[in-house]
Amino acid sequence: MTGLEVSTPAPCAVAPTPAGPGELPDVLGGRYRIERLLGAGGMGAVYRARDLLQEQFGDPQPYIALKLLSEAFTPSPDAGALLFNEFALIRHLRHPNVLRMYSFNVDTVHQRVYLVMELLRGPTLDRLLCEHPLGLPWPQWRDIALPLLDAMAHAHGRGVLHGDIKPSNVLLSDDGVRLFDFGLGQAETSTLEGLAPVSRSRLNAWTPGYAAAEILEGQPLTRAADVYALGCLLYELASGKHPYNRMLATEARAQHNPSLLKAPQNLPPHLWPALRTALALDPAKRTITVEQLLKAASLTPNWRQRLMQWRPRKPGHA
Ligand SMILES: Nc1ncnc2c1ncn2[C@@H]1O[C@H](COP(=O)(O)OP(=O)(O)O)[C@@H](O)[C@H]1O
Ligand SMILES: [Mg+2]
Repeated sequence: MTGLEVSTPAPCAVAPTPAGPGELPDVLGGRYRIERLLGAGGMGAVYRARDLLQEQFGDPQPYIALKLLSEAFTPSPDAGALLFNEFALIRHLRHPNVLRMYSFNVDTVHQRVYLVMELLRGPTLDRLLCEHPLGLPWPQWRDIALPLLDAMAHAHGRGVLHGDIKPSNVLLSDDGVRLFDFGLGQAETSTLEGLAPVSRSRLNAWTPGYAAAEILEGQPLTRAADVYALGCLLYELASGKHPYNRMLATEARAQHNPSLLKAPQNLPPHLWPALRTALALDPAKRTITVEQLLKAASLTPNWRQRLMQWRPRKPGHA
């Protein structure tokens, strides 16, 4: 025993609330008081909660976010594996623009598995797009695109595929951009060995407007599929419009006339070849990595390109 004595406050005396198995209690795990729903997606619901233990030790900011699977998934034998997969993938990453994950827990009384993570404050990119229906000007676009691409380049560098990149899975917090929701993510072979495989085809949870054609056709998730989703998101952020009018990638491929894909006016022209390649519907033609997209987005246009971009348009020309 050292001379250092730490006085420990009495443990959080929170009696389990009388919610039945599967029902959402007021306090989860005897520690997290659920305050309100922050958002719900295809698989789960995220709540703002107060960590009563941290509060008891005097933390003035005891707020965290809890993610639980939605009712539909709760009885599934995969439920724990689904959330653990998300936990393990994010914990494998260390990047300022990836959501910080704290822990994976089980509330045995209420039979719920849940994730504890940092509480983000700010709009998701889909909300931001509602406020900017014509897209963001280039400097603001860059402030989001560069950290997001950097976060994804880090994830791919660590062998982690996101699998569901879209505006509602990226948030512009007070602290900068945060990428989250790796719920459909996967580790590339040999990364995170031992992680129980989760049957994605059974979940069938791809997001229509952002899933690459090969994913819709049942091919496995790849880096190239993440590049397609990122391309759609970055295009939308620059123009306010989905590159293929929200069509499924397979439909767009069937109808597609490449000249219909227009360069967003807000972006400097030097960036378009890279973005257009990311948007290739045929994965064999999607020959660009996230790293290369990041490099292209980081370049500043030279004076001639700047002049070309800002030249006054002739009357009658769109
Ligand atoms: N850590 C967080 N802090 C604040 N809001 C969050 C957080 N995580 C998710 N949300 C909100 O909850 C929504 C659903 O979360 P998400 O992880 O995307 O679940 P799903 O897998 O069901 O799509 C998000 O779009 C966002 O609005
Ligand atoms: Mg989501």
